[in-house]
Amino acid sequence: MKWKLLLLSALLPLSLTACAELGAGSGADQQATITVQAAQPGPKINRAMWGAFFEDINFGGDGGLYAEMVKNRGFEFPEPMMGWIKIVPSLARGDVSIQTESPYRPAQSHYVRVASRTAAPMGISNEGFRGMGVTAGETYDFSVEVRNVEGTPPVTVQLVGADGTILAADQLSGLTGDWSKVTAILRPNDTDTHARLAIFVDAPGTVDFDFVSLFPRKTWKNRPSGLRADMVQALADMHPGFLRFPGGCIVEGSDLSKRYQWKNTIGPIDDRKVLIDRWNYEFAWRPTPDYYQSFGLGFYEFFQLCEDIGSQPLPVVNAGMACQFNSGELCPVDALGPYIQDALDLIEFANGPATSEWGAKRAAMGHPAPFKPPLRMMGIGNEQWGPQYLERLALFTKAIKERHPEITLVSDAGPSPADDRFAYLWPQLQQFDVDGHRAEIVDQHCYANPIWFLANSNRFDHYDRNGPKVFFGEYAAQSVAICSTKNRNNVECALAEAAYMTGLERNADVVRMASYAPLFSNTEAWQWTPDLIWTDSLHAVPSVNYYVQQLFCRNRGDVVLPTTNTAPVRDLKLSGRVGIGTSNCTAEFKEMRVTQGDRVLVDSASSVNPSVWSGGTSWRNEGGVYQQTNAGGASTSFAGDQFWMDYTFTLKARRTSGSGAIVLNVCDDNTPAMASRAQWILGAPVGGPTVADPSKPEFILQSHFAEQDELLAHTPGSLETNRWYDVKISVHGGRLECYLDGQLVQSAQVPERKVPSLFTSATRDETTGEIILKVVNPGGQAMQAGIGLSGVSHIDSSGQATVLAGNPADEDSFDSPRRVVPTTTTIQNVGPRFDMTFKAYSMTVLRLGTK
Ligand code: AHR
Repeated sequence: MKWKLLLLSALLPLSLTACAELGAGSGADQQATITVQAAQPGPKINRAMWGAFFEDINFGGDGGLYAEMVKNRGFEFPEPMMGWIKIVPSLARGDVSIQTESPYRPAQSHYVRVASRTAAPMGISNEGFRGMGVTAGETYDFSVEVRNVEGTPPVTVQLVGADGTILAADQLSGLTGDWSKVTAILRPNDTDTHARLAIFVDAPGTVDFDFVSLFPRKTWKNRPSGLRADMVQALADMHPGFLRFPGGCIVEGSDLSKRYQWKNTIGPIDDRKVLIDRWNYEFAWRPTPDYYQSFGLGFYEFFQLCEDIGSQPLPVVNAGMACQFNSGELCPVDALGPYIQDALDLIEFANGPATSEWGAKRAAMGHPAPFKPPLRMMGIGNEQWGPQYLERLALFTKAIKERHPEITLVSDAGPSPADDRFAYLWPQLQQFDVDGHRAEIVDQHCYANPIWFLANSNRFDHYDRNGPKVFFGEYAAQSVAICSTKNRNNVECALAEAAYMTGLERNADVVRMASYAPLFSNTEAWQWTPDLIWTDSLHAVPSVNYYVQQLFCRNRGDVVLPTTNTAPVRDLKLSGRVGIGTSNCTAEFKEMRVTQGDRVLVDSASSVNPSVWSGGTSWRNEGGVYQQTNAGGASTSFAGDQFWMDYTFTLKARRTSGSGAIVLNVCDDNTPAMASRAQWILGAPVGGPTVADPSKPEFILQSHFAEQDELLAHTPGSLETNRWYDVKISVHGGRLECYLDGQLVQSAQVPERKVPSLFTSATRDETTGEIILKVVNPGGQAMQAGIGLSGVSHIDSSGQATVLAGNPADEDSFDSPRRVVPTTTTIQNVGPRFDMTFKAYSMTVLRLGTK
């Protein structure tokens, strides 16, 4: 092995794959030195550092973790027969109807009545959550609330395969003239992922049915009406240190009437009222009209699950704010009392003695002792932003901290890690102080392209050590774009996440917890991709991304060891097209000119590429004046290519109608791997859709990279309509200078984006003494590295290497669930200095015994 120091390579912006091709073409193996300072332990790592975040999205709860197989079991969906069909064969006579008179439960009054007038069987059939999964020979427990109204006709229940074959059948007995629960056991003779449940009245008579239920006998810990064993097992196998629940946006509701209210999720199962799931209608392109929350997986089950798998509970409560992507409805601050009381009562439900009001409710459900681990953290809101959030957070903080100083509060910083909402909130949270109570942990979220995670693994290296701690509570690399239905759970994304996680781990004094999102996704009913574990009615298939999480959870270590690595670093230069555009106004642009030193790249007023402007809609060129004619929405027209850099862009611009902003782009690289640009926005308020104040327009300088905005500068400023402005933007390196009518208005440095070719972090397991070294090689070339372990008196000569590797597009799937999984081998010749080759597209965890 040759030990050679490599110079920082300053390559043009390239995707990971493109970079790999370039590397392969160069023919040379790259090399690096990784040094671990074992004698200088850094911060202690939170035992709950790596966790999981559960939300009922993608049929992750109903139709997922909650093992109930009957959808709309109580006929309480707004369309009471949703999920059901009437089975009234031609020879049958009678009626199947929804009734509400003398119901089984007054508060949930719908039930179904089957009135049959012939001997031909007629009844109802339920489709389950996009098919019921049944396994040959297994036991399924059926139950129903039932009442004979007329006659005592025989009633049968069947499991029917997707092709119509009867897989199991039984006759119900014990029906009376009053509502009563009757049960049956069904043992299918075949396996089917799309079976149905049918109930027939086999002779003349009238029978009422409600709360029809079917559960596999084999649930997690074989609890009756429990959770799906395979899904909990997959979660437990990850070893999450904490579990965040129940959301996500679901906590907020699209308006406050649809917010998550934990008190409605406990107590007798058939008293829990269904609520529309906000993911039912959130995405017009993935509507899921049959998505409702039954709350069979409610807060009791959540705490019980945490207890089962040894995860610390992190409940999230509504902060008096509905989802700000939707209505943004606010509970007035003087009416927040019940919201805060709900939070206090939740603490009592988890931790209080059985003699307390809410502890007694827990005891009545079967858990007299407080849950373990005890509740010690609570999230106040999800992805909230703006001053409205701070006002509400202060009230929650005061009330909770006064009574429960032992509870750590997790606050929000909006939905993105660097945009205007974050830029407003983070400094506010750094200064937050309510009677001496500071913001303790702030939940940061990021969904972005893989390159974002690679270029930001150093995000916390220079973070404020005295400010709030960080919970990186939702993140996932998006192979295409946020909310794209084409996003994949592939190796490229998983390694980008792994690379980023080395940065979180290195900074474990600031970053106290982190979790991927979302967790579960039903392959037949999802709204959001990518997701950590994919399921159908019978199987749970962990993704490659899951294995990354698992490797971190299972190889956490107790203390960070300082680590350096000399692997080459790629510098992502700022480069790309220029753009003229608008947001909610019409405008005109003329004399656009781009110069690079003496070179004229474009000049719309002369013969140098005068008409290269393309893209966008509603553009008209009237004798060299480019008119944007649509006053609603946003549209940009571009000139140039992704390689343009270090240039000056001048033009004249005027808004012609509306109160929106003129938007000018520079360094716009729209290649899928980068999706990067800088924008000067003239005359729009910052603060996000529901809190921005249109009466306070600003000039905003922001960059956009890999799906994430970053606010660079903002200052009050407005445009006069119908006045021509001289605009100049100069770009040199990452420096932007923006002029209006010859005056410098704003300038900023776009933060450097550097992508190391190896990502490393090391920790020590204080129990075993092992050094745990994680190395991520997201590039397409194997990397040879010399590893130096300093500050240890003895190193075992053999160690363990666990490697997760594949090609960038590789995925685990239902057909090939183990295509990319970690494999562990023993390595020899370990010593204070030894060599390792890190495969292309790989993550490696070394466990090295030391004394
Ligand atoms: O994880 C999916 C959603 O993404 C969460 O509900 C929300 O918090 C975020 O916007």
